[in-house]
Amino acid sequence: MENPKVIAIDGTSASGKSTTSKALAKRIEFVYVDTGAMYRTLAWFCVKSGVDIHDEKKVSAACRKWKTRLTCVENEVRLLVDGYFPEKEIRTEETSAAVPHVAAAPKVRDWMKKTQRDCIRFGNLVMEGRDIGSNIFPETDYKFYLDATLSVRSQRREAEGVNENLAARDERDSQRKAAPLMIPLGAIPIDNSNMTVDEVCDFIIGEMNRVDGKAD
Ligand code: DC
Repeated sequence: MENPKVIAIDGTSASGKSTTSKALAKRIEFVYVDTGAMYRTLAWFCVKSGVDIHDEKKVSAACRKWKTRLTCVENEVRLLVDGYFPEKEIRTEETSAAVPHVAAAPKVRDWMKKTQRDCIRFGNLVMEGRDIGSNIFPETDYKFYLDATLSVRSQRREAEGVNENLAARDERDSQRKAAPLMIPLGAIPIDNSNMTVDEVCDFIIGEMNRVDGKAD
């Protein structure tokens, strides 16, 4: 495919990035990439292999050596480790607690950048994360930043059965040295506190058409 398009969806925790990105990818037949799942996969791999997640050098070494492969199944990119996709394992509490530590290592972020950019070989992408528009694909014309009020986001987490201090997590994600969470330059902020998923998708598609010069 010549010049595949990348839609970068960044935003705070529980801002609806995954739900929106999946729905959008399905609607416009783009490939969906969950970059958080890649960080989670490394965190799971480190814990499973006995790598101290607080030791940046050891985590970076594990990331340099692990045997991974990207595949695309039903329009979703998967990161396989030794041929295995740890779909369930990366969502456990243990993995969730470990992931911010591995995600803070600059060498890990370098590896992720290379791997995430490589996803372009699967075609047009909807890629969600924290630094997609600022760091992974800063050149894309389609950048969006999702957010919702703290109370709406907390309610969403609670509905998923997860009790999480989102304010603390926002603070940690925005304060870290390597690729902190921020509104990427040129990104369109969307507060979806009072919007349905379909409405957010309509808005994004409308903005893409406007950028492409297709708007009325
Ligand atoms: O979106 P998520 O909860 O699955 O993300 C898991 C962790 O990875 C979270 O601590 C933020 C981090 N992350 C990141 O630093 N950069 C990304 N592009 C995606 C996720």
